[in-house]
Amino acid sequence: MEAINASIGFDRKLYPQDIAASKAHCAMLERQGIIAPDDGKAIREGLDTILREIDAGTFTFKTALEDIHMNVEARLKELIGEPAGRLHTARSRNDQVATDFRLWLRDAVDRIDAQLRALQTALIDQAEAGADLVMPGFTHLQAAQPVTLGHHLMAYVEMFGRDRGRFADARRRLNECPLGAAALAGTSFPIDREMTAKALGFDRPTANSMDSVADRDFALETLAAASISAMHLSRLGEELVLWCNDGFAFVELSDAFTTGSSIMPQKKNPDGAELVRAKAGRIVGALVTLLTVMKGLPMTYGKDMQEDKEPVFDAAATLELSLACMVGMIADMRPNAENLRAATQKGFLTATDLADWLVRVAGMPFREAHHVTGALVKKAEDRRVDLAELSLDEMQSVDSRIDASVYDVLTVESAVASRTSYGGTAPANVRAAAQAARERFL
Ligand code: ARG
Repeated sequence: MEAINASIGFDRKLYPQDIAASKAHCAMLERQGIIAPDDGKAIREGLDTILREIDAGTFTFKTALEDIHMNVEARLKELIGEPAGRLHTARSRNDQVATDFRLWLRDAVDRIDAQLRALQTALIDQAEAGADLVMPGFTHLQAAQPVTLGHHLMAYVEMFGRDRGRFADARRRLNECPLGAAALAGTSFPIDREMTAKALGFDRPTANSMDSVADRDFALETLAAASISAMHLSRLGEELVLWCNDGFAFVELSDAFTTGSSIMPQKKNPDGAELVRAKAGRIVGALVTLLTVMKGLPMTYGKDMQEDKEPVFDAAATLELSLACMVGMIADMRPNAENLRAATQKGFLTATDLADWLVRVAGMPFREAHHVTGALVKKAEDRRVDLAELSLDEMQSVDSRIDASVYDVLTVESAVASRTSYGGTAPANVRAAAQAARERFL
């Protein structure tokens, strides 16, 4: 029973939050005249001693004392004797743990937000540096139209910006204080929940005592935001893996984020990117774990809910590690401009530009232009040349309305430069988007 019941093995991590919440509770009990000032002082000083002991590593955690709350209270009793027993007036471990956990998650969300911001900074820096670097844009992982590396990277700036929005949104709802809900029904003592909420940096106390101890939405919302962010990191990790592959050779990652092979001397493996790609699984797993723990639980607290902590701690640590690695990889990444451009010379990437020209200059309906372009691509394919290498005669044999000005739109540089529509890939747009992103996000 002790082995399955105890949570001290993992909830000891909550000690700074547990002690801060106890101190706030104690100060409130004192001010409300629920405990004597002398007792309050002894309790608060004892809690400070315990904080120092745990920080210093001299505190002995006991599994028999089940969790962080009882470990702290038992040590307080050893230190100050009888007054220690007055701290638990008008509270329960149910509101205590909900408070501690929210405090812990709030800090985690703030750390993650700072890391996401750092990742956006690294991406924007690279996007500005790569605003003119042409590369193939893909759909179905098939070369589709030319884009710039800067534009591609700015797509991720948007994704991570939305992630930050989701974390901020979760944080707003998370920031209410359950302390004082007591076991589930509130308390008959004249407590001041506004005071404890304010002391702990919460916006307000939670409104319903039963919901206060039964709710883990704040953890689920954070895990949901973490899962989506991890999914984005995984996609970027996959792109880095592809881009490092010899078939692409679009970028080189620094030695700091790659490893060699124990047998093949030439190898430089993108392990960091692969691991970021993989770690999303653990984070999504944490979300599914907690959703499964919570589903079907009747009001209010159930010991099931003690199973909330390990997945959340693991997901947060995993996301923080993944973000740290991704920030380093992006900041150090060296694009290979030649290879990026060379890849645009296969796959008839300017076929859409040709069709658009036929619409604009030759006045064809787009559907007809699409058909004519198809015939020209077929011709180029048969001759194993690029569209721009077809002679004017060959072009005119397909459609007599084509003239020499068509060649102006067939280079990848002209193709990207022409895409000046809002949100488009033109280098000028990318520079403006990067500047705007600095203002929106940094
Ligand atoms: N260790 C418990 C948890 O993590 C604290 C709350 C215990 N409450 C109780 N009524 N046994 O959920």
